[in-house]
Amino acid sequence: MIHAKIADILDSNQFLQEFEVKGWVRSFRSNRFIAMNDGSTINNLQCVVDFENFNEELLKRVTVGAAIRVLGTLKESEGSQQRVEIEVKELEILGDANPEDVKLTILSPKRHSLEKLREQAHLRVRTNTFGAVMRVRSKLSFAVHSYFQQNNFHYVNTPIITGSDAEGAGEMFKVTAFDLKNPPKKEDGSIDYKKDFFGKETNLTVSGQLEAEAYALGLGQVYTFGPTFRAENSNTSRHLAEFWMIEPEVAFCDLDGNMDLAEDFIKYVLRYVLENCTDDLEFLAQRLENEDKSKPQNERSDMSLLEKLHFVLDNNFKRVSYTEAIEILKNSKPNKKKKFNYVIEEWGADLQSEHERFLVEKHFKCPVILFDYPANIKAFYMRLNEDGKTVRAMDILFPGIGEIVGGSQREERLDVLQNKMKELDIDEQELWWYLDTRKFGTCVHSGFGLGFERLVQFVTGMGNIRDVIPFPRTPQNAEF
Ligand code: 4AD
Ligand code: MG
Repeated sequence: MIHAKIADILDSNQFLQEFEVKGWVRSFRSNRFIAMNDGSTINNLQCVVDFENFNEELLKRVTVGAAIRVLGTLKESEGSQQRVEIEVKELEILGDANPEDVKLTILSPKRHSLEKLREQAHLRVRTNTFGAVMRVRSKLSFAVHSYFQQNNFHYVNTPIITGSDAEGAGEMFKVTAFDLKNPPKKEDGSIDYKKDFFGKETNLTVSGQLEAEAYALGLGQVYTFGPTFRAENSNTSRHLAEFWMIEPEVAFCDLDGNMDLAEDFIKYVLRYVLENCTDDLEFLAQRLENEDKSKPQNERSDMSLLEKLHFVLDNNFKRVSYTEAIEILKNSKPNKKKKFNYVIEEWGADLQSEHERFLVEKHFKCPVILFDYPANIKAFYMRLNEDGKTVRAMDILFPGIGEIVGGSQREERLDVLQNKMKELDIDEQELWWYLDTRKFGTCVHSGFGLGFERLVQFVTGMGNIRDVIPFPRTPQNAEF
């Protein structure tokens, strides 16, 4: 007898071999056909019971959602829906699921909206859609490590609790051990953080970049892949308060090298899932097609999910300077007709996602790398260009997603960096260690951050970022 996962059994040719399988009941038809799933694949295993040989009370407990153990022999299936099936010899209920209770949950076999599924995030992974998304997510994360490990990058774990605000946007969750009702105060009435756990103000990190830079200037090429936290009150389909970010950082690499790396990396992971998640991606493509049918014609996408993935793989990302992009946007129809919520008036404007999506989806119709942004709409650490007003920043914009990557060449010149920090009122003492990296063997270096959930969104075609992370954290929501 072989203990096996359904994924392996479905591929097996060991006919008449006995297998033992454990999983959950998806359906039970005609008191005879159990469709069973164990999470190893989107496909169910058909288990055929000869009801005359089984206790009636036992068969009544084979209900949707129940956990069962089946022992039986592998047979070629007579049905057209599956190649193989298990002829059941032993059947055991491991965990009951009362049909009356199941009716109240998303496990009940009718169709549920994604919103409804979100309310039961602890059960939604038992559905085909979420099973597929989470398996693809897992494979993608393996592909991330595999790409960097193959290319001589070292994985560094940067701190989750930090004292610095890398992005300078002030959108941080505080970390404290104080009793919030009664924190120690200084004479002037302000909170005395010297008495707090770390002896200073701390918060959850918004990015591991600054620490990754320090490590790149020693290990040469590093990457982080960890959770980041942003207390921005953005209730959009692309923002989470807790999300995972991949941040490579490379010494002796300029912005062009950074763009090459990002493009090569993204293409590698897309190729990896196309090769390794065929069943799940086909299912998700079909799901998207069905969803599209309920939309008005002009909102439907002209490419299927798989076509979209291949399209990105097969085409070079279009590299466009911010200045060129502003010209395109200024002269665009939606801008002239004031269809944008934020009309682009002049150079220097920050781009909103409506502008990014126009450039990608309507104008260039392919992924776009925008570079050389105005210094004053970007973070302090980006390298100032010779023009004195733009920085060596790059954002990668994707169809349907908008910004998926944000990165830059870093300011490696101590004096320029110090001036910038003064200008922005960033405390040099707080970042003394970061400045040190510019004093001891500073060098040209670059890196970027890729929002992992936005990548998963792109690959799976899920419209809302809350549906590509197991338990989403968003404003007013930290259930589960
Ligand atoms: O553009 P961001 O803010 O860049 C940084 O944090 C840099 N320190 C990265 C670096 O150069 N090492 O964020 C990077 C990416 C964005 O492009 C986006 O994909 C994702 O992180 N992101 C979010 N994803 C989900 N929810 C949010 N609230 C996000 N904020 C950023
Ligand atoms: Mg950004």
